[in-house]
Amino acid sequence: MTCVRTLPSDAERMKNTLLRLMLLDRRRAVQHSNSYVYFPILSISNAKLKRVIERAGGRIVQRATPVLPDKLAHTDLLARVMTRAELALIPRGFDLLGSIAIVEIPRELEPRSSDIAEAVMEANPRIKTVLAKAGAVSGVYRTRKLEFVAGKRDYIAVHRENGCTFRFDVRKAFFSARLAHERSVIVSQVRPRERVMVMFAGVGPFAIEIAKAHPDAKVVAIELNPDAHSYMLDNIELNRVGNVKAVLGDVKTAAKDFSGFADRIVMPMPKTSAEFLDEALLVASRTAVVHMYAFSSADKPFEALRDSIIRHSSRRGYSVRFLPGRIVRPYSASEVEVVVEYVISKRGIHAGVAGQKRHATAGS
Ligand SMILES: C[S@@+](CC[C@H](N)C(=O)[O-])C[C@H]1O[C@@H](n2cnc3c(N)ncnc32)[C@H](O)[C@@H]1O
Repeated sequence: MTCVRTLPSDAERMKNTLLRLMLLDRRRAVQHSNSYVYFPILSISNAKLKRVIERAGGRIVQRATPVLPDKLAHTDLLARVMTRAELALIPRGFDLLGSIAIVEIPRELEPRSSDIAEAVMEANPRIKTVLAKAGAVSGVYRTRKLEFVAGKRDYIAVHRENGCTFRFDVRKAFFSARLAHERSVIVSQVRPRERVMVMFAGVGPFAIEIAKAHPDAKVVAIELNPDAHSYMLDNIELNRVGNVKAVLGDVKTAAKDFSGFADRIVMPMPKTSAEFLDEALLVASRTAVVHMYAFSSADKPFEALRDSIIRHSSRRGYSVRFLPGRIVRPYSASEVEVVVEYVISKRGIHAGVAGQKRHATAGS
């Protein structure tokens, strides 16, 4: 079998390179000798790809590599005890927060809840607890009712994401693992010594990931839910970030203490972010980048949101320059979650590079 041989010190980088090139053969085992790591790869004839691998410190060699046993999904296991009609109702995916799986059990299959939960745990040995969604995300704290189904009766997740750890009670605070990629995109946009305001901060994922990746940034994270705020304080310690100030309060009032503070403003509350545009202007430095999350129609996700942002800002003497923005995830059959990204500047101020002037002096 064709493998890429690399030094253990280069193995992580090589794995990422092979994943990016879609060359890693996941059906075969990665092997280790005393001096090398061997990654099994799919056949490679392209000379350019070979050069990329060699530049990353890899050497293409031939070596016997064992085939990994097929991994069964929970639906494969359930196929042994359920009818086809029942199986068709079972969602393939579930949310995973640390060792807690949160599944959606269709009403018709409620009597089979424990079979489903046992199959989820058997197929995924790291899952120790299975909870079922017992309602929609609701209320101002954006939490969801959850029911215990099987495993260890534990509601405290210890979840790793983008190199940080978050500990929280899954019943008491909002956390969506589906936003992991989105958070890494925001982290990658932060520039040296920025001052970042994270509104609606929850247990701290945006704020802490930004702070960890940018130790010279100053981050303020406002959260209304006392439980989420308290977990955010714990998570700041857990991740040893000294540059996040966690504020318990309503953005409507707490923002007043941070007038003119922010080079970047993150507004991750898609249901009602648009009601806080005044607070975004208030906390913005002379120019600032805003990331406003919102639910929007899947057909025309950006137009109406951008129009209302322009109207709002221009009435208050600000000009707006839109950045590309993104569809973050599907939300319902007809709606998507988007992030509208824009630079706001007090009229008369050049909006080319937000906060660049401030960057030269920030750090106090
Ligand atoms: C959708 S969650 C996002 C949480 C977090 N940013 C994350 O990505 O996991 C929105 C959060 O905003 C909080 N919240 C709602 N209204 C608020 C307000 N007026 N001021 C501050 N926080 C608020 C909720 O308690 C909830 O934790």
